[in-house]
Order: sequence, then structure tokens, then C-alpha cells
Amino acid sequence: MAKRKALVAGNWKMNGSLELVEQLSTKLNGFDGDVEVLVFPPFPLIKSAIDSGLSAGAQTVSENDAGAFTGEVDAKLVAQLGAKYTLVGHSERRAIYGESDSDVANKFAKAQEHGLTPILCVGESESEREQELTEQVVSRQIDAVIVKLGVAALANSVIAYEPVWAIGTGKTASPEQAQAVHKFIRDKITALDSNIAQNLRLLYGGSVNDKNSEQLFAQEDIDGGLIGGASLKPESFESICNSAKGNG
Ligand code: PGA
Repeated sequence: MAKRKALVAGNWKMNGSLELVEQLSTKLNGFDGDVEVLVFPPFPLIKSAIDSGLSAGAQTVSENDAGAFTGEVDAKLVAQLGAKYTLVGHSERRAIYGESDSDVANKFAKAQEHGLTPILCVGESESEREQELTEQVVSRQIDAVIVKLGVAALANSVIAYEPVWAIGTGKTASPEQAQAVHKFIRDKITALDSNIAQNLRLLYGGSVNDKNSEQLFAQEDIDGGLIGGASLKPESFESICNSAKGNG
């Protein structure tokens, strides 16, 4: 992880409160070190998080511009709040809300169009891993973006590898398993553009906690983490952020 600044992001999913914003900002404001820290609260909390000094982004955005799309949220408005990032293609969006690879690529494009850096989430299910399809699945998910936008679009993005079987299950990928997939992703992109690949931050997500984060973040191609459950506990999240120090 020599060249890339470590990034630790908390994905609150449909959790959190104004109290949590306050607690986290008290803990993390003034957090120094070579680690970028971000939170992804539900939409109604983004502004409060930013006002309280946290860096905050959206968990998803619409692939459309403003218009008749009841319930959807425009990337442009998210950017106007002062957010710099959005997640796209989280496995819960893919599995529960039926987002296809191409929907995700469209959201990725829309985010960038409005000045947000997309964090593209990819990862295989348990049965895909058992069938040894991990590389194929992750490749397909990344290719959807490359085919639509070209490899250059990855220069202003982050990729989060989150094996579906590890999300919220307590079954973390081992550092070796995670590193192997991260290396696969970096090698794949190196074949297209080595400069982009070397600078691209690759996060690991899936049951990261304050006990396993240090070993995961120490891996060569793991540049930080996307943290779900543990990001709702201010002390654990702070300790995970601390464990990324020195790995940027
Ligand atoms: P988890 O979630 O850390 O609770 O496994 C990670 C995520 O879904 O981003």
C-alpha cells in the first residue's frame, strides 16, 4: 500500500441517527494520520454529518437526472450538499433492489458526471465462490463500467471488494483470500492501464472489525475498508480507522 492513501468508510445502511452523527464527529474530528475517513449514512443524515465536520457520501444515487422518479435521489443534489463520494452497486442494492451490472454502470457514470467519486462495490456470492466463479463475477461487474465508460473512468473511482458471503455474517475473508482477489483486480486493470491500476484504491468489506482490520489492511493490495456493522459503534470504527494508519 505504499503509494495510495488509505481510505476507511463506514456504510451505515438503513441505520443511524442524529445522535450517532454527533458521537462519531466528536470521536473523529481532528482524526489525523494518513487515512481518509468517510461515512455513508442514510440520505436524511448526510447534511448533518457534513455540517458536523465528517466527510460523508451517499449509499446510492439515481442513474437519472432530476425528473419524475418518485423516491429516487439525484447525484447532483448529493454533490451540492458537499458530499464527495457515493457507493454504487452495493450487493444489497443488487440483490434486494435488482440493480443489474448495467444499472450500476449507469449510476457510476451519473455520479462522476455530477462530481461525485463512485465507490464501485463488487463481490461474489457463497455459491459462486464454491463454484470457483469469484474472478469471473468480479471481472464481469468491473467490465460493465469499463465497457460503458472506458478504463480512464476508473482513475476517479474506488473499488470495494465485498464478498457477499462475508457481509454481515461474521465470516470475514481471510487476509490471504481478500488479497488474492484484490491482486486479481489490480492485475486486470494493470493490463489496461498500469498507472490507473497503481493509483486505484481497493477497499475490502465484509465483517471487518477492530480485531481483524489491521491484518487485512496490511495486505499489499488492500488500501482500506468498507465497514458495515462495526461503523455504527464509534469506538470500534475509530479503532479500525487507526489500524489503517501507516498503510497508506
Ligand atoms: P459488514 O457490512 O461490515 O456489516 O459485513 C459491510 C458492507 O455491507 O458494506
